[in-house]
Amino acid sequence: MTARVFVVGAGRAGRALTHALRVGGVDVVGLHGRQPGVGITSGEWPSSLASATVVLVTVRDAELDGVLRDLLAAPLGAGAVVLHASGSMEPPSLDLLRTRGHPGGTFHPLLPLTDPTRAAEQLHRAWIGIDGDEGARAISRELAAAIGARVLEIPAGAKARYHAAAVIASNFPIVLLAMATRVLTSAGVSEEAARGALGTLLTAAAENVRAAGPSAALTGPVARGDVETVRAHLEALADAPEVLELYRAMSREALPLAESAGADRGRLEEMRRVLSER
Ligand SMILES: NC(=O)c1ccc[n+]([C@@H]2O[C@H](COP(=O)([O-])OP(=O)(O)OC[C@H]3O[C@@H](n4cnc5c(N)ncnc54)[C@H](OP(=O)(O)O)[C@@H]3O)[C@@H](O)[C@H]2O)c1
Repeated sequence: MTARVFVVGAGRAGRALTHALRVGGVDVVGLHGRQPGVGITSGEWPSSLASATVVLVTVRDAELDGVLRDLLAAPLGAGAVVLHASGSMEPPSLDLLRTRGHPGGTFHPLLPLTDPTRAAEQLHRAWIGIDGDEGARAISRELAAAIGARVLEIPAGAKARYHAAAVIASNFPIVLLAMATRVLTSAGVSEEAARGALGTLLTAAAENVRAAGPSAALTGPVARGDVETVRAHLEALADAPEVLELYRAMSREALPLAESAGADRGRLEEMRRVLSER
C-alpha cells in the first residue's frame, strides 16, 4: 500500500495504531504528541506532515475538534485524507477540512487499546468502524486491511447508535462481571478466586457467542426453561435489590433467545411470570 500516514496524538490509540500500521507495512511518517519522546515529535508541525497522504488524529474526544481546527492552518499535503479515531464524535471542523479538499471520516478501532506492543496482534482480529467521504472510507479500508482488521461501515446518521452498541458490548460485561464478583465475595469467596473464575467464564461465553450467535451460546436456567432455579436465584439475591433488578431485566432479555433455541414455550411463559413477581 502506498499511503503515508501521519498520526497526531501519541496516547494509547495513537501509539497502538502506529505500531500496528508499521507492522502491517504501512509507512507511518510521523507520530506527533504534546510532549516529545522516542519517535514522537511535538510543538511545530514537522516537515513530514506535508508528505503524508493520511493524517490520523487520535487525541481524546474533548480535544479532537481543536486539533482538526489546528490542521486547517497546518501545511497539509494537497488532498490528504483526515481520519480520526473517535467512535462518538462528529467534529464540525472535519466539514471545514472537506471544503479545503481533504476527505474526512472515522477510523475507530472496536477494541480496548491499552498496550501498544500487543496492539498489532489484537488489531489483527479486530473490526474498525469507518464512515465519511468515499475517499476517506476507501483509504480506511486499505489501512484496516494492512493491519489485518475488518471494517464495519457505520450507517450515515447512526454514529450515536453505533457507539451505544459498542459501549454495551465492551463496557457492560465488565460492569456485570464486577457485580457477579460482588455476589460471590458476599458469599465468602475470595476476591481473587471470584474474579479468576468468573472472568474465565465470561471469556468463554464471549468466545461462544462470537462463534455461534447468542441463541446457541446461551446456557443456564433460562435457556433450559428451569423455573425453579430462577426462583431460587431471586430468593438468594433478595438482600441486594440492585442486583435483583438487573437479574430480572437480563433474564427477561434472555427469554426470546431461549425460545429461538427451542426451549419449551410454556415454561418460558411461567418464567416470565416469576420474573415479574414482586
Ligand atoms: N484507547 C482505546 O481503547 C481507544 C479505542 C478506540 C478509539 N479510541 C479513540 O482514540 C482517541 C484517543 O483515545 P486514547 O485512549 O488514545 O487517549 P489518550 O491515551 O489520552 O491519548 C490521547 C493523546 O493525545 C494527546 N494530545 C492531546 N492534544 C494534543 C494535541 N493538540 N496535539 C498532539 N497530541 C495531543 C494527549 O497528550 P497529553 O497526554 O499531553 O494530554 C495524549 O497523549 C479517542 O477519540 C478515543 O475515543 C481509543
